[in-house]
Amino acid sequence: MAEFEPKVIAFLCNWCSYTGADLAGTTRSQYPSNVRIVRIMCTGALDPIYVVKPLLEGADGVLISGCHPGDCHYVSGNLKARRRMATLKTVLSEFGLEEERVWVRWISASEGRRFAETVHEMVGRLKELGPNPLAVQWAI
Ligand code: FES
Repeated sequence: MAEFEPKVIAFLCNWCSYTGADLAGTTRSQYPSNVRIVRIMCTGALDPIYVVKPLLEGADGVLISGCHPGDCHYVSGNLKARRRMATLKTVLSEFGLEEERVWVRWISASEGRRFAETVHEMVGRLKELGPNPLAVQWAI
């Protein structure tokens, strides 16, 4: 039987983490191909519904990544995102979803290696958790 390969959706802010992911590519820092990247202008612009939707439609994890606190190009978008995602995780856990399926990480434009390591770490943890139980329930 083939090994479980988790599907990860990554929302990356344009100014820091997306550039960091690009740097990972240009510096040939390899990371698992399980991740699908969605570029957003700022993590503060990410409506939680866009985190829930992929989880209900088959994604095994969602990564939200943006500028480090104090570096957000829209001043406090990342801080708002951190608060929203903390609340969302609480709600999702009420529905039986492990909080570890939603990761919030700060990765700057110069941290390509950190992006690659984060994806490695997340995919490894999701493999331990197994398939997303919400997606299985909703698919029936
Ligand atoms: S601009 Fe990057 S998190 Fe706000």
